[in-house]
Amino acid sequence: RPPGSFINAANTDFTIATNRTAQKAALKDFETRHLGKRWPCIVNGKKITNRAFIASVNPARPAQIIGYWAQGTVQDADEAVAASVAFFPQWRATPVDVRASILETAAEIMETRRLEINSLLILEAAKPWLEADGDTSEAIDFLRFYASEIRRIVTPVVTQDVPGEHCVQTWSPRGVGIAVAPWNFPLAILTGLTVAPLVAGNCVIIKPARQTSIIGAYLMNILREAGVPAGALHFLPCSGADAGAHLVAHPQVDFIAFTGSREVGLNIWQEAGKTKAGQINLKKVVCEMGGKNAMIIDTDADLDEAIPAVIYSAFGFAGQKCSALSRLIVLETIYDRFVGRLLSACPAIPVGDPSQPGTIVNPVIDEGAQKSILAYIEAGRQECHLAWQGTLPPHLRETGGYYVPPCIFTNCRPTDRIVREEIFGPVLAILKAKDLDEAFEMANANDYALTGGFFSRSPAAIDRAKTEQLVGNLYINRGCTGAVVQRHPFGGFKMSGGGTKAGGREYLENFLFPRLIAENV
Ligand code: NAD
Ligand code: ALA
Repeated sequence: RPPGSFINAANTDFTIATNRTAQKAALKDFETRHLGKRWPCIVNGKKITNRAFIASVNPARPAQIIGYWAQGTVQDADEAVAASVAFFPQWRATPVDVRASILETAAEIMETRRLEINSLLILEAAKPWLEADGDTSEAIDFLRFYASEIRRIVTPVVTQDVPGEHCVQTWSPRGVGIAVAPWNFPLAILTGLTVAPLVAGNCVIIKPARQTSIIGAYLMNILREAGVPAGALHFLPCSGADAGAHLVAHPQVDFIAFTGSREVGLNIWQEAGKTKAGQINLKKVVCEMGGKNAMIIDTDADLDEAIPAVIYSAFGFAGQKCSALSRLIVLETIYDRFVGRLLSACPAIPVGDPSQPGTIVNPVIDEGAQKSILAYIEAGRQECHLAWQGTLPPHLRETGGYYVPPCIFTNCRPTDRIVREEIFGPVLAILKAKDLDEAFEMANANDYALTGGFFSRSPAAIDRAKTEQLVGNLYINRGCTGAVVQRHPFGGFKMSGGGTKAGGREYLENFLFPRLIAENV
């Protein structure tokens, strides 16, 4: 394929019985052969095993240990930086084609092991099948897309065609960086944050989220198997507040590729702005944070389309997506009809164990998340009206899984806590707007600006949404989750992030310095 061209990976079609049988068998095989292993830190190709090993558990059955990961220390972090600094000149000089081919090999490995990887995502992150498979596809897409992008970018661009001087703009990698990832897209986001800077010629230290460190270890192994040299990539599962913060502040760390919460993101943004003795580059921060995403239902919306889109956007993966719908704004004249139909559809939403193929609402990631979401539900009961709450099948209560029944609140106002703050769980707040002016005002009256949705059949109203609903990713007459690499470059602004777009054409530029070369000819 020519540079810059790319095709998305196909998801597995689980409506086909043989695919379901194969995924079930893969899950069983994973549980039989791979659980309980010890996963070391890897620095400069060396496995570090003499550290505290932390258990990672299945959120659906916390008694089931997925594996143990070695907790990297500040000293390990320093070693990873030193090894990266030493190897950087060699990696930068490695031909782009070699670096890109390694990513393409890693994509092939992931494709071959898709069902095994899906199984790990189902077990360690409690992802429902469709979500696990989508996460794997997105990781494969990031590998192939960034490989094709670096091949496109490597060709110097003539800035102005004038006689006597040949002028081109070109790019140079920044140096050494860290990829700091959340647990909710434990493979896809970690892969994107790692391989974009890596293929651009930088050395990278992988810092996965604590809850999904085994998935991080899998990614590390695949990238090494694909041919990434030992000095270019290091795996350092560790405490964010300890070795993670140390890396952020390290004078020889040139960039931080971060996705996670607003609180941590703002802290990293601030710390990275403090120049340390011995620091040669200003640190670049790619900072993708939370969302409090609103969807507007206009008076003439197609309800047959809108209702399933609302349900999946709010409750898929138990609402644990930065893109998830959490504020639904319904126009007054359609309010009763829409809400009535939505509430009557809700009892059919499958809440359950993610190892079962039909599950939509899985347990949340850990006990801390469960407690925090239940506290928000309590706040919602005080401020709004609890219009619907799902029930948990009795057999699931005995598992100890971190389940939270999905909820819908009505009578919500823009000032209510559950309307303002990111809950990151299966909780939907419904607001009533008297007209589109008020609907757009409500949608924009929030600290975040990540995704948004708009359902309408009126071209004039859709045109208004395009200019007035101010979010990074606006989805019209469809759900507001599930961005596809290249098609939907993903990222927001305000307190949702610094305006970078993962899976978009400009993304690699974040990890490169632009250079101009003018030659008298
Ligand atoms: P988090 O901020 O708690 O953790 C993210 C990562 O930062 C983890 O690896 C963590 O260990 C690390 N970390 C924590 N403190 C650190 C420090 N001081 N220095 C360096 N690293 C540190 O987020 P989370 O709970 O893992 O993920 C959920 C959040 O991520 C939600 O807010 C969600 O909206 C957001 N998110 C955003 C996007 C996006 O693209 N905008 C995508 C997915 C998730
Ligand atoms: N990229 C993910 C989505 O769009 C967060 O749902």
